[in-house]
Amino acid sequence: MIFLENSLQYDDYFRLRKSVNWNNYSKEQTIFALKHTVYSITVKNDEEIIAMGRLIGDGLYFTVVDVVVHPAFQGQRVGTVIIQKLLSFVEKNTPPGGHSTVSLIAAKGKEPFYESLGFKRIPHEFCGSGMRKVIQKGKEGKGGFV
Ligand SMILES: CC(C)(COP(=O)(O)OP(=O)(O)OC[C@H]1O[C@@H](n2cnc3c(N)ncnc32)[C@H](O)[C@@H]1OP(=O)(O)O)[C@@H](O)C(=O)NCCC(=O)NCCS
Repeated sequence: MIFLENSLQYDDYFRLRKSVNWNNYSKEQTIFALKHTVYSITVKNDEEIIAMGRLIGDGLYFTVVDVVVHPAFQGQRVGTVIIQKLLSFVEKNTPPGGHSTVSLIAAKGKEPFYESLGFKRIPHEFCGSGMRKVIQKGKEGKGGFV
C-alpha cells in the first residue's frame, strides 16, 4: 500500500464515502471542499484508492474529517496510519512553543479507534459537549435546520 499526500480526487472521495454508506454532498460543493483541504492522505492498493482522511483548518484549529477505509481493507491498521500521518502534519506545522488543537466527531461506536490514537472524549473536566448544526437546503432553495 502507498500513502499519498494531497492528491484526493472527487471520484475516489465519492466512491469511498458510498462504500461505507455515507451520504455524499453535491459535486460542486465537494470539489470546492477538496480544493480547500489543508492536508489529505489517500491510500493506494494496486491501482485503486482504498482509504482516505482529510484535515481542514487554519493553523490553530484543525478538524479531522472523511476518514474512510474501504470495508474490504478495514482492520489492517490503515486507518491508524492515516490518523498518525494527519497528526504528524499538525505536529510539523506547530511552531516551537506554540500549540494546535485537533478535533473530530467520531462516528457512532468509533470512539475507541480515536482513543487508541490519543483523542479524548468530550465533555471532560475542561470542555463541554461538542456541538453541531447541519444546514440543509432543498433544490428550490428553501432552507432547513437539523
Ligand atoms: C473507523 C475506521 C476508519 C478504522 O480504520 P481501520 O483501518 O479499520 O482501523 P485499524 O485497523 O487502524 O484499527 C485500529 C484500532 O482501532 C480500533 N477500531 C478499529 N475499528 C473499530 C471499530 N469499528 N469500532 C471500535 N474500534 C475500532 C481497534 O481497537 C483497533 O485496534 P486493534 O488493531 O488492536 O483491533 C474504518 O473502520 C472505517 O473506515 N469505518 C467506516 C467509516 C467510519 O466510521 N469512519 C470514521 C469516521 S469518524
